[in-house]
Amino acid sequence: MHLIAPSILSADFARLGEEVTDVINAGADWIHFDVMDNHYVPNLTIGPAIAESIKPYCKHADGSPIPLDVHLMVQPVDRLALAFAAAGADIITFHPDAETHVDRTLQLIRDQGCQCGLVFNPATPLDVLDWVIDKVDVILLMSVNPGFGGQTFIEPVLEKIKQVRNRIDASGRAIRLEVDGGIKVDNIASVAAAGADTFVAGSAIFNQPDYSTVIAQMRSALETVG
Ligand code: DX5
Ligand code: ZN
Repeated sequence: MHLIAPSILSADFARLGEEVTDVINAGADWIHFDVMDNHYVPNLTIGPAIAESIKPYCKHADGSPIPLDVHLMVQPVDRLALAFAAAGADIITFHPDAETHVDRTLQLIRDQGCQCGLVFNPATPLDVLDWVIDKVDVILLMSVNPGFGGQTFIEPVLEKIKQVRNRIDASGRAIRLEVDGGIKVDNIASVAAAGADTFVAGSAIFNQPDYSTVIAQMRSALETVG
């Protein structure tokens, strides 16, 4: 099943709760929450207090919950992972090159009752998956260099998505393959065709006046892939 995860990085931070509600009413499946520390990436965004504030908004109109998908672009990871788990994160992903003991950090996140995942930059090798694929719920492939919204999709990542799809299929586990960066209505089908099932989109959604139109266009593009 294809899931759309709007990144609130491109939302209006002065009205964040309302923005989350609007994008859920427009058809969002997950809320993607980008955490940047001005150390692992050259930008600074939002922390656990904001996650805690928007958590009550992460639900459908009927009250059923929507996962809060926290993407940590921070170094080191462990302390902030604990803080985001306490703030209500449902999914926590981190970059394996940002923490020394990857296996321990995955276990730490699971122990908090959250789903966990690893994030790979466009030029980061996948080797670590040889050893921890049985411990991840999500694999997130960056299709831009992390740090900013509104960048252009890096095409060689399509081949990397295929490789991760093969690894997931070989594992026999239900692992989400999420892709993040530069996803738009006109390229989402090619990302899905390469094997992704979860699509982060920030500027493509929040820079448009009507979020439901964009999400509907993304879903119809995805239908062409099946
Ligand atoms: C980039 C972030 C992305 C970003 C995507 O470092 O991880 O989630 O918000 O933004 P767009 O969709 O505008 O490329
Ligand atoms: Zn992200």
